[in-house]
Amino acid sequence: MVGGGQLARMSAAPAAALGIDFRVLATSRFESAAQVVADVALGAHDDEHAVLEFADGCDVVTFDHEHVPPPILEKLEARGIAVRPGPHALINAQDKAVMRRTLEGAGAPVPAWRVVESVGAAEEFAEVVGYPFILKTSRGGYDGKGVWRIEDREQLAAVMTGELPPGGQWLAEEAVPFVQELSAQVARSPSGQSVAYPVVRTVQSNGICSEVVAPAPGLDPERAVAAQRIALQIAGSLNVTGMLAVEMFDTGEDLLVNELAMRPHNSGHWSIEGAVTSQFENHLRAVLDLPLGSPRLRAPAAVMMNILGGDVGDLYSAYRHVFARDPGLKVHLYGKEVRPGRKVGHVTAVGDDLEELTMRARHAADYFMGVIDE
Ligand SMILES: Nc1ncnc2c1ncn2[C@@H]1O[C@H](COP(=O)(O)OP(=O)(O)OP(=O)(O)O)[C@@H](O)[C@H]1O
Ligand SMILES: [Mg+2]
Repeated sequence: MVGGGQLARMSAAPAAALGIDFRVLATSRFESAAQVVADVALGAHDDEHAVLEFADGCDVVTFDHEHVPPPILEKLEARGIAVRPGPHALINAQDKAVMRRTLEGAGAPVPAWRVVESVGAAEEFAEVVGYPFILKTSRGGYDGKGVWRIEDREQLAAVMTGELPPGGQWLAEEAVPFVQELSAQVARSPSGQSVAYPVVRTVQSNGICSEVVAPAPGLDPERAVAAQRIALQIAGSLNVTGMLAVEMFDTGEDLLVNELAMRPHNSGHWSIEGAVTSQFENHLRAVLDLPLGSPRLRAPAAVMMNILGGDVGDLYSAYRHVFARDPGLKVHLYGKEVRPGRKVGHVTAVGDDLEELTMRARHAADYFMGVIDE
């Protein structure tokens, strides 16, 4: 797996359970996954030599992020190493403008969008969809970075004076008036077997995912199936292998696709304890072209809350209180240095009563973040 973040770290447990030799390419020994994986190669994901050397001896290469440049992926394939997902699929998770074009071509429902090369072009788009609208960089964004809600011309002009990441473009989108945000995750193997996870609700605060509820509460069963169908269709038509997360807007009437992630995703962390087979295990099974595990919930509901870096530097100091208070709760810390707003861990509660699960998960997350102290 290229990338030493928390997704690689959480993939290490099922790799160990399944007896799979798991090698990670990390930039430092101190990265989240490098702390816990025995076989670590050090190097950058965009350093061709480092990636080729790391992949030497691997049957399959997969990713904990989508940033490996396509030419390097093609080199890997030319050497007979299976790259999953492949470069043609992955480009859609690297560039939101490419993704919008592909999705439209595949007949998936998307918000109104346009690549805008100038403030003038963005203003023209705003005349069609109105203010506020959404402006994004097509590349390099994450956790709400690279996404702006544009209220007026002045703000638009100010944002567009900013620099674009290499290869990036400005992407304007209508501001979708959603009632909730959903994520539909599927696993797909090279043989074409696919499984769909229960559709979940995601809640973002300041553009960053804070909470995930499985299954999405109050979602009409027919709309949930429609969301799963959209995700399965995208996985098939883009020939995705491994996990695919399709982030969607539920407008109350329609489903619109926001973006794609072709790897385990924050919206599936609940599945470690909440599903028969976690997203991390199914990602491994899928990229190895093994039969997939059941994605079914083990209980009526699961609630996951992210722990974001706050005032408390030493997260471990919260363990005594959190564990003593709630022996049923599960905690994951990623071994990352605590910085404000950074995802440093998550908690999951699995059970019957959604309100109770939400309270328990919120208490623990707030305690870790120093929002409450009892
Ligand atoms: N067209 C839109 N209309 C309304 N809200 C939007 C739109 N696009 C993005 N958002 C809001 O901004 C959030 C972040 O946008 P997006 O998912 O495109 O960015 P990101 O930073 O790449 O996210 P991620 O952390 O999932 O990679 C969305 O979850 C949603 O809340
Ligand atoms: Mg997103």
